[in-house]
Amino acid sequence: MKIHVRKESFSQFTAEAVVVTHFEDMESLTGAAKQLDEECGGAIRGVIEKGDFRGKLFQISVLYTKDDFPAKRIILTGLGKKEECSLEKLRGAFAHAVRQVRALNLEECATSLDVGMTDWPLDQIAQAVVEGVFLGLYRFTTFKTVEKDKDKGLKRFIIVDDRVDALRTIKSSVNAAEITARAVCFVRDMVSMPGNEMTPTDMVNKAKEIAAGKNVKLKVINVAGMKKLGMSALLGVAKGSAEPAKFIILEYHGAKMTDPPIAIVGKGLTFDSGGISIKPADKMDEMKSDMAGGAAVMGAIKAASELRLKVNVVAIIPATENLPGGRAYKPGDILKSLSGQTIEVLSTDAEGRLILADALTYAGRYAPAAIIDLATLTGACVIALGEHVIGMMGNDNPLKQKIQRTAEATGERVWELPLWEDYHELVKSDVADYKNTGGRPGGAITAAVFLSKFVGNIPWVHLDIAGPAWLTKDRPYIPKGASGAGVRLLVHFLKNWRQ
Ligand code: BES
Ligand code: MN
Ligand code: ZN
Repeated sequence: MKIHVRKESFSQFTAEAVVVTHFEDMESLTGAAKQLDEECGGAIRGVIEKGDFRGKLFQISVLYTKDDFPAKRIILTGLGKKEECSLEKLRGAFAHAVRQVRALNLEECATSLDVGMTDWPLDQIAQAVVEGVFLGLYRFTTFKTVEKDKDKGLKRFIIVDDRVDALRTIKSSVNAAEITARAVCFVRDMVSMPGNEMTPTDMVNKAKEIAAGKNVKLKVINVAGMKKLGMSALLGVAKGSAEPAKFIILEYHGAKMTDPPIAIVGKGLTFDSGGISIKPADKMDEMKSDMAGGAAVMGAIKAASELRLKVNVVAIIPATENLPGGRAYKPGDILKSLSGQTIEVLSTDAEGRLILADALTYAGRYAPAAIIDLATLTGACVIALGEHVIGMMGNDNPLKQKIQRTAEATGERVWELPLWEDYHELVKSDVADYKNTGGRPGGAITAAVFLSKFVGNIPWVHLDIAGPAWLTKDRPYIPKGASGAGVRLLVHFLKNWRQ
């Protein structure tokens, strides 16, 4: 799919379909809808007056115009009540609209950004529309060989405006939004891939694709290198699998070389069976998505480099499978982490925090200005917050506030859980420094408390994306399955880091 920006009058624009918006139960039409209605003799008003289209949120009506009218179809799209409208709803509305166009088997549609949301700056409207379109049309078809071509697929989405100054804003905003949305889809593809097609080695290959862009450097530490460094927590998890573990590092320099980087660390568990503490068979297949954090940080650094953001970033992804092989690590084993601290393994299914322990220690060696880790870390976080919200924990209030603000702006919401002293007792071991589970109560928190032991004093935020990374139900612009959670949050955060 390609997005085009064209300098032309919207109401005169020739297209198979044009998308216009309307607020719920509003007497008058606004923006582009009004302009178009005047040109086509009140057709839009007619539908509204008959009550067939009320502008309810995500409501869609298709109008067929007279033969001589430039736009063959008008896709009326509801934005809901004007006073409740938001960029998030705009994303969803455009996702619904373009899916309707696709279902009509059309290859193109056009729109105007004059959607009536006069309280929002044009660049944000442009970004939200492009995100809604790209993300809402996503589908994972890599392995489909039959019934693949039910529709032609939308190929062109055209934004039409005839104001010169607005066009400049629109173009740069569309470009940035497209880069970010493509990165989200790159991540969704990675996460949707089954375990046999997205091994740690396959993740390295994806990292190589990113590093093909000239301003990103890739380093991969193989098992021999991990042994030399002493990454025995990661190696412990990897022992049960025949697939070699990989430690992936991507570096992007967008600021002075001397500027401390932002370290983004992502859990890269390409398949989590639970190991010897094996998981129930039901839904175990979904654990192919346990590398969603790793994929998200890869997508974020990809976008950051393409956007040439003025910030230094290092993305760190410990990648392995967790399987119960003959050499697998066992409950009771004690592992010596890269930090030197020892860990008693009580459950081999609490493997994410083990591989992250070594990755966080490694991240610390960059003396980063901040560390942000993303991980599908705990089922407990899904129970606590569901799949709409990311669990946020961390050791630095300003950093948490920054993430909080970014979350509101991108629609990737976070909710903070506490890391009070009281919880720290729960991860102390009788025989080692720490144990890798703190029991079922507060499971998302004790997992984060465990991670905190490996970040020292560096400002750090942990984002538990176990819920939002894999959706069991469609959302307005996120089809069910892999969501690419965290990418837009990270990109927006990196973009605003210096402000
Ligand atoms: N990858 C899982 C967490 C998970 C569960 C993600 C469901 C997405 C959906 C993680 O490795 C895990 O198994 N965590 C255990 C920890 C427990 C053994 C302390 C869990 O949450 O049950
Ligand atoms: Mn697990
Ligand atoms: Zn896991």
